[in-house]
This record gives sequence, structure tokens and C-alpha cells, in this order.
Amino acid sequence: MKTYKEYVLEADEKGIAIGHFNISNLEQLHAIYNAAKKLNVPIIIGLAEGEAKFVGLTEAVALIRALRARDNYPIFLNADHHYSFEAAKAAIDAGFDSVVIDLVKLPLEENIKITKQCVEYAREVAKKENREILVEAELGFIGVGSNILEKIPDGVSEATMTTPEDAKRFVDSTGVDLLAPSIGNVHGMVKSGNPRLHPERVKAIREATGIPLVLHGGSGSMDEDFIGCIKAGIDIIHINTEIRVAFTSALRKSLANLPEEITPYKYLPPAVEAVQAVVEARLKLFSGMK
Ligand code: 13P
Repeated sequence: MKTYKEYVLEADEKGIAIGHFNISNLEQLHAIYNAAKKLNVPIIIGLAEGEAKFVGLTEAVALIRALRARDNYPIFLNADHHYSFEAAKAAIDAGFDSVVIDLVKLPLEENIKITKQCVEYAREVAKKENREILVEAELGFIGVGSNILEKIPDGVSEATMTTPEDAKRFVDSTGVDLLAPSIGNVHGMVKSGNPRLHPERVKAIREATGIPLVLHGGSGSMDEDFIGCIKAGIDIIHINTEIRVAFTSALRKSLANLPEEITPYKYLPPAVEAVQAVVEARLKLFSGMK
């Protein structure tokens, strides 16, 4: 099997993107994995700090490694949005395949310093354990939280998008493997519609940095915007809110339809099916299947 990084570079060459989906439980993992296997595409499972605390770092690593080994299938585990060196280190120590060190709230110089520390630590562990560990950082504010939003969060605007100059300096100074820039994207789904994405900015950042780029805040964006960004240099796309919405609304409906049912494996399947449908549609789009 190719490595995680090799799959990312392959996606880049083919002009497609790998889907990254967040989970908080086993049902969502089943749904996402079913969808990926059905379409035979590599897949990345993400757990941001809160999700990882709920599921457990050891538990998440054990699940993903077991599936990868059993099926010889390219499923990878990402510690999405970890907000300190200590939190990122814990995920690396537990065995995650990649980590997103998110220090956008810090001044740039401090962000660079701690991100670099994280890259050095990942390289050290990778060497010692003879495995690949990728480090990603976010540059430029794209809001927080995978929720339904009343409006575009303050601080997210075309004027605050990541510049190619900042991106190049950040990548050169830290040595990150992957960069998640701000290019019009926003975490969560805005009720009145998400802002448009800016493929031309993706292209400029890709050219300036020379490394694969990751699109965060995928939920709620338009198909043509995704396609434009993939062609411009996005190799991984993160989706979370759409998973949460599909899971929770299907579960609410299922519980309402079965008010006497107390057996989780009887009322949960509609939620698994709903998440699988969302993931299949997104994977088809990202892989150029439709
Ligand atoms: P959305 O919730 O907007 O899909 O963003 C997900 C994300 O970027 C997780 O890292």
C-alpha cells in the first residue's frame, strides 16, 4: 500500500482530492468507511481535540489501525485541530498518522515557533517508530466550530484571506507537510449560504509554497467551488458539519419513529445510512466521479 503522503501526491497529480471526515463515534466511522470502500477511494478520518477527547486517542488509533490491517485499505487517522503542542504531542504519541496544529489565534511568530517544534517532534517520533507522520497547520482565520451559523463569523472576509507571501514564509520557516489556508472558506454552514471560495488564491498559494493544500470548512460550499479549488491545488477536503447534521437529524427522526425502542443497534442504522449518503456524494465529487 502507498503511504498517506503518496496518496496525497497522487491526488495532486490526478487533479482530485481525498475526503477527510470527522467523527465522534463508531457509527460515523462505519458510515464513512462503508462509503469509501464502496467507491474504492482512500479516506482520512479526523478527530479534532474535542472529538478526540470524547472517543479516546488510544481507541481511535486502535480502530483505524485494525481496519487498515484487516482490509489492507488506505484509511488514515488525522488529529484535526489540536490547539497546543502538548495536545498535538499526545496525538502523535498515541499513533495518529497526521496532526493539524492550529495556532491561528497566536501572533504569527509564536505560531511559527510552536508549529516548528511540532514538526521536529513528529520527525523524531516518525524516525524512532519507522512510520510516516504528517504535520499540517492552518494559516488565516476561517472561524471555529462545525455548527449551523446565523452569519459569516467576524474576522472571516476576502480581506483576511491568506496571502501567498505569508504562506510561503510560514511553510519555509516551519517545514509543515500540508497547509490549510483561508481562501473564502468557513467552518460550519451559514444559514443564508456559505461565502464563495477563491480558486485563484489557492493557485497562488500552491505556487508560492509548493506543498499540498487542504481545504477546511468544506460543509455547505458549492460543487463548482470545490471543483475549482481542487483543480487549483487542494488535495484534501475536510467535511464535518454535514456529517453532524445528517447523523443528528436521522437519529432524531428514528427515535421519534420508534419511541419504545431502547436497543441502539435498532434505532441507529438510519443515522449510519444518512451519513453514508452524504459521504458518498462528497467522495464522488472530490474524486471526479460525477
Ligand atoms: P465544516 O464543519 O465546515 O465541514 O469544516 C470541517 C473542518 O474543516 C474540520 O477540520
